[in-house]
Amino acid sequence: MTKVLGISGSLRRGSYNSALLRAATRLMPDDATLEIASIRGIPLYDGDVEAQGIPATVSQLKEAIIAADGVLLVTPEYNNSIPGVFKNAIDWLSRPASDIGRVFGGRGFAIIGASPGGFGTILSQNAWLPVLRTLGTQAWFGARLMVSRAGGVFDEGGNLKDATVEERLRQFLAGYVSFLRARG
Ligand SMILES: Cc1cc2nc3c(=O)[nH]c(=O)nc-3n(C[C@H](O)[C@H](O)[C@H](O)COP(=O)(O)O)c2cc1C
Repeated sequence: MTKVLGISGSLRRGSYNSALLRAATRLMPDDATLEIASIRGIPLYDGDVEAQGIPATVSQLKEAIIAADGVLLVTPEYNNSIPGVFKNAIDWLSRPASDIGRVFGGRGFAIIGASPGGFGTILSQNAWLPVLRTLGTQAWFGARLMVSRAGGVFDEGGNLKDATVEERLRQFLAGYVSFLRARG
């Protein structure tokens, strides 16, 4: 069984990115699971706080990542880049630096995202690249999924209603899981 952990980079109740992640859970291939983890409750990174110990929310998320074969980042785009709350969470997860190998090293990461605009988080997804490289992940770039005009893609309940996006998401997940499986 291939285990993927999905993390949405939005705290918003009506988040399109969280809705995309929820949709992904039902479109996973057979013999693969997608568990949703949250960045809610992770404090702002502060070296003085770190000196008192890694917050429990961070340690728990680290352990969930370590237990997974892959991590799917579902990223919004803010000002053509990574939203601060999402980057803040990853920054915490990279502390202490001696844990980077255990949490990120060689782990199969993938990125998708949704935006109400016309470019569907392309710049935010690009902005993740140096971060994933720095942390030593093995990111999968076999496909890209940028959900644009997200207001018309989800219904008011946050359910994916666009059949084309659904199929693209299904295919993205199939390719990503094949990549994870091939790595053993
Ligand atoms: C501070 C801020 C900056 C934003 N900048 C961008 C942007 O550069 N590109 C974009 O497509 N959308 C941008 N947006 C709109 C977001 O894509 C939109 O709020 C989206 O719904 C956020 O994701 P969520 O629905 O998962 O919360 C911005 C929103 C905020 C609050």
